[in-house]
Amino acid sequence: MKAWLLDKLGSIENLRFTDAPEPELHNGDVLLEILYSALNPADRYLAEGAYPARPALPHILGRDGVGKVLAVGAGVSGWQLGDHALIIRGPIGVDRPGTFAQRVAVPANCLARVPDGWTLPQASCASLVYLTAWQALTQFGSLGRSVVLITGASGGVGVAATQLASAMGHHVIALSRSQKKSATLRTLGAAYTADPNDPTWRKSVLSHLGSRHVDLAIDNIGGAGFSDLLHVMGMWGKISVVGRLAGPVPEFNTASLFFRRLRIGGVAVGSYTSDEAQHAWQQVLETLAVGDHHPLIDSEFPLEQLPQAFARLSAGPMGKVLLRVTPS
Ligand SMILES: NC(=O)c1ccc[n+]([C@@H]2O[C@H](COP(=O)([O-])OP(=O)(O)OC[C@H]3O[C@@H](n4cnc5c(N)ncnc54)[C@H](OP(=O)(O)O)[C@@H]3O)[C@@H](O)[C@H]2O)c1
Repeated sequence: MKAWLLDKLGSIENLRFTDAPEPELHNGDVLLEILYSALNPADRYLAEGAYPARPALPHILGRDGVGKVLAVGAGVSGWQLGDHALIIRGPIGVDRPGTFAQRVAVPANCLARVPDGWTLPQASCASLVYLTAWQALTQFGSLGRSVVLITGASGGVGVAATQLASAMGHHVIALSRSQKKSATLRTLGAAYTADPNDPTWRKSVLSHLGSRHVDLAIDNIGGAGFSDLLHVMGMWGKISVVGRLAGPVPEFNTASLFFRRLRIGGVAVGSYTSDEAQHAWQQVLETLAVGDHHPLIDSEFPLEQLPQAFARLSAGPMGKVLLRVTPS
């Protein structure tokens, strides 16, 4: 089969498009013919060696995807040849070969049906970002109707968090550096948008909120902007730390956490067990149905154009970047 092989860690430049051995089907696995797969920043981090996983090399990246069942391993029930299945966050693309390939063997407990009314491209790109957004929204327990601020809101996790938070009844403030993407975010459920590069953004958000403050911030960006978030948080405010696209957070005075009893909690979608991920996925689908939301696709590239797809992801997409692998 054709696949992108990563021969050594260090860079996505080390990927090569070539013939690769067919996947091995273990007990409990289902063999999928991949139709579409989707990129995540963590694929690049893994290639760069900036991710905890150390898979056997050569490795195939790619955590998300949708495919057609080609074979069913011993001990698997509930899947038939020809069924369509999407992959839910698990070892695929991390410790086991991933979806930047024509075929992949997936543990059956990491599969789910394509939701009613979703296209195959939409199903290919959703599970990792929606599960991440779900953990970020729920890890501190029930919030009640709250003000939720999301950084990097136009990206995969940001769009998912915007849609879920608005469907949960929260008042959503979305940060994006682009006016065009901010306009789209308002159609997806954001009540207010702001540009984190505008030095007055904190003032404009607080003026919009009146006597309220931010109850939960979901931070996909990190970097120097992190301490700005602390200024807009209210009493008992919580921050879900998801990503660090702008790099490490510089020093900040922890006294800024004291008086409002702020809490900071890390998000790790990989910490969901497969049962927890399946349960959370059902809750995600029920919540999305409330708002009639669907995954948002930024762009699609043929499998052989993975480097161009990574370039698009780095440029700041509006939603998800996909690979067309074997469209049916
Ligand atoms: N903890 C977990 O379990 C987990 C799970 C999934 C993802 N993540 C991490 O979460 C982060 C977001 O992932 P994603 O899939 O949403 O990424 P993405 O699709 O690449 O989008 C992120 C968005 O952030 C903005 N952005 C990018 N670089 C920026 C910078 N240097 N400064 C300010 N804004 C920037 C861009 O929006 P604008 O151009 O509109 O500003 C971009 O559209 C990544 O670091 C990823 O690795 C963590």
